[in-house]
Amino acid sequence: MTKKMSLEIISHQQVGSQVRRLVLRGKTGARPGQFVQVAVGETHDPYLRRPISVHDCSEDSLTLLYRAAGRGTTLLSAKNAGDTVDIVGPLGNGFPHHKGPAVVVAGGIGAAPLYYLLRSLREAGQDVYFFYGARTKDELVMQKDYENLVSEYAEATDDGSAGYHGFVTELAQKAIAQREAHVFACGPEGMLRQVSAIAARYNRTCYVSLEARMACGVGACLGCVVPVGTSGEYKRVCVDGPVFAGREVFA
Ligand code: FES
Repeated sequence: MTKKMSLEIISHQQVGSQVRRLVLRGKTGARPGQFVQVAVGETHDPYLRRPISVHDCSEDSLTLLYRAAGRGTTLLSAKNAGDTVDIVGPLGNGFPHHKGPAVVVAGGIGAAPLYYLLRSLREAGQDVYFFYGARTKDELVMQKDYENLVSEYAEATDDGSAGYHGFVTELAQKAIAQREAHVFACGPEGMLRQVSAIAARYNRTCYVSLEARMACGVGACLGCVVPVGTSGEYKRVCVDGPVFAGREVFA
C-alpha cells in the first residue's frame, strides 16, 4: 500500500565513487522492482522528490542505492544517520513472480533494484545467473554482495578494466541461449532493448525495468511516458511500470 512516511536513517555510506547506500528504519512492504519518491530537501513539495529504486527491504528496514550526481541527490547525500527522510511509496509495479531459473542482467546503477530480486529468487530456491556490466571498473559497486547471492556471476566493462572486455549483453547472450530461464534486466535503454531482443530470439520470458524522469510518481503529470510497441500507445513508467514485459516496450 502506498504511504507517506518519515523514516529514520540507520546508515548512509558511500559504496562507490558516486554511489551511496541509504538504510532506513521502517516497515514499507516494498516488493522487488518497486521504487519510492524521496524528498531530497526540507520541503514537502511532491515535485522536489526523486524516484529511487528499492535495493532491499526487510520487515523493519528499507535500503536504497542511488547515484549522487544531480542537485537533488547531492542534497540527499548530505543526510546522516539519525536524520529522517520523507518518502512516498512503495510505488509502481515490481518484477512478477516466476518459478524456475533466472538470467539477470544489470547495467551500471541499474544493478540497484536487482539485488532485492536476486535475494528473493535465491530464497525461493531458484538458480540465478547474474551478469553485471558497466562502462568502467569504477562503476561496478558491491560486486561481492551480488556474487554471494547467485549461482553464477560474471562482470563486463566496456573498457576492459574489470571482467570481460565488452558489453554485458555479449555475456548474457550465451547464458540466455544455453538456459531455459526467465530473463530480468535493468540498465540503460540500449542494453534493455538488446536483452529483450535476445530473449525474444530464444523465446524466453523477459522483464525490463525502465528508468524515466519522474515528477509526481503517481500517474498525474505524464512526465514519465514512454512509447510502447508500434501502435502509437504510451505508458506511464511510474504506474504502469517501471517493470514491463520486454516485448511490450521494445516490440
Ligand atoms: Fe508523473 Fe509518471 S511521474 S505521471
